[in-house]
Amino acid sequence: MFDHSMPHPLLRTEAFIGGNWYRGERERRTAISNPATGAVLAEVVDLQQKDLEWAVQCAYQAFPSWRRMVAGQRALLLRAWYDEIMQHVEPLAEIITLEQGKPITESIAEVRYAASFIEWFAEEAKRLYGELVPPHMADKRIMVTRQPVGVVASITPWNFPAAMIARKVAPALAAGCTVIAKPAPQTPFTALALAALAEKAGLPAGVLNVVPTTDSEMAGNLLTSDLRIAKISFTGSTAVGKKLMAACSGTLKRLSLELGGNAPFLVFDDANLEDAVQGAVASKYRNAGQTCVCANRFLVHRSVSDVFASKLAAEVQNLRVGNGMMRGVDQGPLINESAVQKVEAHVQDAISKGATLVCGGKRHPLGGTYFTPTVLTGVNRTMLIAHEETFGPVAPIMTFDSDQEAIDLANDTRAGLAAYFYTESYQRFWRISEALDYGIVGHNTGLISTEIAPFGGMKESGVGREGSRHGILDYTELQYICSHIG
Ligand code: SIN
Repeated sequence: MFDHSMPHPLLRTEAFIGGNWYRGERERRTAISNPATGAVLAEVVDLQQKDLEWAVQCAYQAFPSWRRMVAGQRALLLRAWYDEIMQHVEPLAEIITLEQGKPITESIAEVRYAASFIEWFAEEAKRLYGELVPPHMADKRIMVTRQPVGVVASITPWNFPAAMIARKVAPALAAGCTVIAKPAPQTPFTALALAALAEKAGLPAGVLNVVPTTDSEMAGNLLTSDLRIAKISFTGSTAVGKKLMAACSGTLKRLSLELGGNAPFLVFDDANLEDAVQGAVASKYRNAGQTCVCANRFLVHRSVSDVFASKLAAEVQNLRVGNGMMRGVDQGPLINESAVQKVEAHVQDAISKGATLVCGGKRHPLGGTYFTPTVLTGVNRTMLIAHEETFGPVAPIMTFDSDQEAIDLANDTRAGLAAYFYTESYQRFWRISEALDYGIVGHNTGLISTEIAPFGGMKESGVGREGSRHGILDYTELQYICSHIG
């Protein structure tokens, strides 16, 4: 960790636009607080409409030369950015924990996860192959190429302040697009630190612009209507995703949407219960339950549900809650007061409708936005917690009696991002994985995130995929060229 008596080496409080650190036309600032203590970390510029228009112009001007640069050269620049990030894992992780609250070990893992997307897409930049199609006429030749879509606006959430940006910016830059990245108002410093490292790595001016603002409505309206922007890539709530989609229709912008989940976690009667409990803790309590792929509903075969619940509660009661900067802490605070209120509302609603509190269920004695890790049993479909994403450290357990009932319960939602199931049966593995209407399925594991696989949802959980060889394609347009050769 760096020396606290010195200024943080990666703390930047200005926006990064057109290759310059920019204070805004009329310098306005907003204070960013540490959710663990409530203390102000620093003030960041709070950009207004004119400033964002300037960022759009810079990205637009940088696009022609960036797209013309040979892919191998873009790859080298991305690789240099990756190297810078890997040389600054600890200071970056510290910024994440200070502004977002997650334990420092999770922040370190997040920085490496973020960097992995940049490394991956640096490599993919060189493999953006086209096709030669056997012609339909003797004197014609047909070629299909992939062109960058243009200027991309990325809008990212606070729960993964580094990884969500990297997962969008890296494939966009690799494909030859330029980017305006709007970080969540709660977590601008991670984004700006990544920009500082991109600058150090030699990314040309205007290729990546980071625009902190608290005026999300102004930013949404501008970015979805400006003709110079070709695509919006958004991670966040389904409600906001739908608004952005509607707003993009006026200019028919391309869209990537990674939206809310309501992940079921199924435990069959032949599951290895020790493994299932470990997977449940990893999936549910990572980032204090604040991920789109966190298990949101535990569906457990009636014959093993009591054992599963008591083993899970024993693990959960051992989780250490505290300031994420302290080594040994497993769960930090929630992001803000309204996040805690939502968790409380879900727990109270479930208990009022007959659920049993096995452990937790209340704010943590540390106060602030800390919440005690919670397990509920006797949960059913009438409860809010069965239908809405809780985004907090609560494991609600429902029971089922047959495979069909498990599948019906699991699919009983408009969300379709991630699902998990535990079974030792090979036949059941195929039947269940094929029946789950989810973009991401974990079998006998609670951790599914990796840069090498396509991340994204079915139904109302989104549009498009991030990561893997598919992730770059969403930042390209197919172009077909028909040549008459005489
Ligand atoms: C998310 O919560 O949207 C992302 C989680 C992940 O990448 O694991």
